[in-house]
Order: sequence, then C-alpha cells, then structure tokens
Amino acid sequence: MEVINLKTPSMEEKIFVGEEVIKTRLPELTKSQKNFVVTDSNVYALYEAWFRTWFTETEIFVLSAGEEHKTFQSLYSILEKMTSAGLHRTSRLFAVGGGVVGDIGGLAAALYMRGISCVQIPTTLLSQVDSSVGGKTAVDLGGVKNIVGAFYQPCEVLVDPTFLKTLPAREIKCGVGEIVKYAALNGEIFDLLENNLARLTDFAFLTELVAVCIRHKARVVEADEKERGERRSLNVGHTTGHAIELSSGLSHGESVLYGMLLETRMAISAGVCEQEYGQRLLKIVETAIKIQPCEKLDFSSLAVDAEKARSDKKNTDDGKIKMAVAKNKNEWTMFALPFEDYRTALVNAAKNA
Ligand SMILES: NC(=O)c1ccc[n+]([C@@H]2O[C@H](COP(=O)([O-])OP(=O)(O)OC[C@H]3O[C@@H](n4cnc5c(N)ncnc54)[C@H](O)[C@@H]3O)[C@@H](O)[C@H]2O)c1
Repeated sequence: MEVINLKTPSMEEKIFVGEEVIKTRLPELTKSQKNFVVTDSNVYALYEAWFRTWFTETEIFVLSAGEEHKTFQSLYSILEKMTSAGLHRTSRLFAVGGGVVGDIGGLAAALYMRGISCVQIPTTLLSQVDSSVGGKTAVDLGGVKNIVGAFYQPCEVLVDPTFLKTLPAREIKCGVGEIVKYAALNGEIFDLLENNLARLTDFAFLTELVAVCIRHKARVVEADEKERGERRSLNVGHTTGHAIELSSGLSHGESVLYGMLLETRMAISAGVCEQEYGQRLLKIVETAIKIQPCEKLDFSSLAVDAEKARSDKKNTDDGKIKMAVAKNKNEWTMFALPFEDYRTALVNAAKNA
C-alpha cells in the first residue's frame, strides 16, 4: 500500500493506494462517530454486499447515477437526509463512487454545519487518478458544469484499484483520457505511456499508473490549491475538450482526447509546442483515441462547436480563448488566442485528422 501526503494551507490529507486500503483504513475511519455514505445507483447495485460489510447501521444515500443528477436538487436531498439522520459536527461523510458522487458528496460535506470530515472512496478510473484528489467539489447549474462549488479537501482518500474490475470499457477510456493529460505534463508518465502503447487498457498497467498520476496531482495541488497558477496545467486538452463534449455528446474522456489532439496540433503550428516532442505526444493521444468504444467526432462541425469554448472557466474578460498546452517534456504553458483566430486554428488543426 502506498501513502501519498498532500498538504495545503487548509488541510493535511492522506491518500492511500492499494488493494488493502479498505480493510486497513475503514475500520478505524468508521468507528467512534456517526457516519453517512453517498453513492450512486450503479455502484450500490454492484457493491451492495460490500456496503453491508463496511457500513452497517449507516445511512446510505443512493443518488441516481449520471451527470444529470449532479444538481442542486440532489445536493438539497443529501443535506436534508444528513439533517434527518442527526449528523453532528464530528460526523463523517464517505463518498463512494465516481466523480459525480465525489463532487456532490464533497460539497455536501463542505456545507453541512460549515464543514464535516469527508473521506473519498473513488470507484472509477477517472475519479481515482483525478477527481477524488485536490478538493474540488461542485454541482452543475443552468446547464453549466461545476459552476457552484467549493474547495474542500477530504481528510483521506482510499484508492482501491479492485473497483476498476467492474468498470465498463467506456468509463475506462474516460480515465485513460485524464491519464494521457498527465503524460503531457509529466515526463515519467509520458515515458510510461510511450513505452507501453499496447497496454493502455491493461488492468495491471492502469493500476501501476494510478499512484503515479495521483503523486503528480498532489504535488500540483500543494503548490497551487486554488488554481491561480500551476493547477491550471491540469486543464490540458480541456478547453476544446469541453466545447466538443457540450456539442457532440461524446464522453468526457473521449472529448478531452480530441481536445488534446487539436490543441497540440494548434500549439505545434504556432511554434508554442516543440515539433518533435509534439509529434510523440500526438502518437500517444491518437493511440488512446482508438481505444474501443471509439466514437467518431464530426470534425466538419468544429467551426460551430468552437463557440462553446467561449464559456470555458479559464477565459477572462479579454475575450481570448485560453488553453493549457504542453510545450516540451515536463513543460507546459497557457496559450491564448482571440476567438476568431482560435476558430480558424481549430478548423486547420482538424484538417487530415
Ligand atoms: N473534482 C475534480 O477535480 C474533478 C476532476 C475531473 C472530473 N470531475 C467530475 O467528475 C465527473 C466524472 O466522473 P466519472 O467519470 O467518474 O463519472 P461518474 O461518477 O458518472 O461515473 C461514471 C459511471 O460509472 C459508474 N461506476 C462508478 N464506479 C463504478 C464501478 N466500480 N463499476 C461499474 N460502474 C461504476 C457510475 O455509476 C457511472 O454510471 C464529472 O462530473 C466531472 O465534472 C471532477
């Protein structure tokens, strides 16, 4: 079992990674206070016996699965249930599920009595390598993703790769999208992926990558908890990725991969990303895009889809579209273009894609 420490001005947390994390940490974490669990309907159906083993006599809130339930209404229902369960300031919330459960459960923990202890138990690849770490919590509102939320660090994150065995292929690919993002920022992850392109969905290889990715994210969050500087790097591929996700309905991971493909090409053309390194990165991205299920992006609609990039949270009032892009191994930068230049560059980047 590996233990990764993450220390921010607001919190000192421990991230435990390995197959024995649950039996090592849960008995201690669940004793001596009232507990509350948030999970979703898919996870609960698959792991009902697991919940019965570890959370006897605990109130379990089962959210309907899916991003469309990451809403204020769901948050309100969770808070109502926490109140009627008589939770105290000393109580603890366990968020057991993917990024949706982690984000909404974390926000409920942040709000209830102005903040109670929270433990994240991520069960998807995306939530294990990314969303459970770093304390971003949120719900969606008015069609805008993650627009209402808080930075609220969990006290512990328990990452057990065994959960990934029941994950559908589409969700594995979502997580791979975020892992490729880390490759664009971290030379060690870049080398691991470049040297193992045939193993991108191999369970043993993914398990090995989980801790490496978390170590990278923990270091970035320690340096910049509130995303004023280096944490913006974790949005590589996401500006265009979000625009694609909103317009095409492709999964988040797939959209991020297409976002990385197009933004890396744009950065190479503009001389922002070093040519030879950029081509090697593109090979990793293209290999990940081909992982099944592979949904094709309609590149011909990109000129229209580009509009959606205007609403990206990284943009400021200067009207430019801002992208975090890789420059070279272990180097990244913010790349900003006025909207019309962005649109033209995007359409050019899509040629021959
Ligand atoms: N807080 C952050 O820093 C951060 C970072 C990235 C993404 N996010 C958020 O994370 C969310 C996406 O997370 P996600 O991809 O985990 O989505 P998700 O939580 O919707 O989970 C994906 C699907 O997998 C199912 N599932 C979960 N665990 C399973 C398991 N072990 N076996 C089988 N099925 C399982 C879920 O029920 C769901 O249907 C988005 O809302 C996004 O905004 C947050």
